[in-house]
Amino acid sequence: MTKHLLLGQTLGFSGNPLTSAWADVTQFDSAGGVLIENDRIAATGSGAALRAAHPDATVTDYGDKLISPGFVDAHMHYPQTGIVASWGKQLIDWLNTYTFPEESRFGDRAYADDVAGRTLDLALAHGTTTLTSFCTIHPESVDAFFDSAAARNMAVIAGKTCMDRNAPDTLRDTPQSAYDDSKRLLEHWHGRGRARYAITPRFSPTSTPAQLEALGALWGEHPDVLMQTHLSEQLPEIAWVRDLFPDARDYLDTYETFGLLGAKGLYGHAIHLEPREVDRLKEVGAAVVHCPTSNTFIGSGLFDMMALSAQGVRTGLATDTGGGSSFSMLRTMAAAYEIGQLKGNALHPAQLMWLATEGSASALHMSGEIGHLGSGAMADIVVLDLASTPAIAQRSTRADDIWTAIFPTIMMGDDRAIADVWVAGTRRGG
Ligand code: GUN
Ligand code: ZN
Repeated sequence: MTKHLLLGQTLGFSGNPLTSAWADVTQFDSAGGVLIENDRIAATGSGAALRAAHPDATVTDYGDKLISPGFVDAHMHYPQTGIVASWGKQLIDWLNTYTFPEESRFGDRAYADDVAGRTLDLALAHGTTTLTSFCTIHPESVDAFFDSAAARNMAVIAGKTCMDRNAPDTLRDTPQSAYDDSKRLLEHWHGRGRARYAITPRFSPTSTPAQLEALGALWGEHPDVLMQTHLSEQLPEIAWVRDLFPDARDYLDTYETFGLLGAKGLYGHAIHLEPREVDRLKEVGAAVVHCPTSNTFIGSGLFDMMALSAQGVRTGLATDTGGGSSFSMLRTMAAAYEIGQLKGNALHPAQLMWLATEGSASALHMSGEIGHLGSGAMADIVVLDLASTPAIAQRSTRADDIWTAIFPTIMMGDDRAIADVWVAGTRRGG
């Protein structure tokens, strides 16, 4: 057995600081320790006590750096890594101009391998240890992503993106091939090592009712897997959905009608929701995923995190690269803070850190396994330098508690703030 003891400041959570008083559910220790046995966390607590109890452990002393669960990105598109930060378009034009031509290249396994590996390495360099990704319509793109993640021992969730209309010929499948390919990939990858499959209709505009029905049937046959899609991101998109599905009560209904609404559903964006949609998401226990850098970058709108949480809807946090403009969950937290301000709610640093770790893990139904600093969790860990640049350092030296110490890094930090990363008990470096 390998035993590592990490010493430093430690931050974890015992509950949801969006729905409980943050001070009641925060576990912070300025001289803490995390004991790793093989690939899992065996204990967290006082650094001195853990050191005395485990003299056989290899010690890494991070001083006043902050040890946190690795960041969990609950929605992104690895095939869009190469087109991140593409100028000047809103959602539908952005898809047609930049995204679809790039995604057309992923039938080439070597190309998919290259982008998958690059994306996962960028994620790790930014302290993100779990990605939840859309792939392309090509099964090769799914194999490339899961193989690349397995080579890094990373827990990832992904699925073949299904589209059978309103996309170029190079990116269209059919209801039957979407069902058959998704089923085969799901049966091969789901639960293999740290891989988990998500059934992945891109969004209602690019699937016929027949395809949505086929994927709903597949989910019914495999209710243990996640289903990910997009919902109510931009107003012209919502108007288009209304035209395409004239009988639907609202956007969510286009999924609900075909068996694509459930507790294990992940609905990206979900900015412009009708009251009925909020009620149904809450009733079934589905999760919505906030993608703040994307929502400002593509011009989608302002997600109301506090209102949705207060109404009992589960929420995760995500980069949505390449619609999102950053690989960094620090930058993503900063954007969530800024959007919160525009909605009249200043999200507390505890709430932001929870969303980037425990919150996203909960949205993915992986609580206790990832995004968590308690015993039994996988040892996926990020160590943050809270003084990584001169601008941040001169501000954080004035801090009088952990929140004023970490907030400058949330607002101004990038990959330079990532002092170290551990994946499944193995040190990957910062
Ligand atoms: N809606 C459908 N596809 C996409 C996508 O790739 N990115 C974003 N941001 N929204 C979408
Ligand atoms: Zn997306």
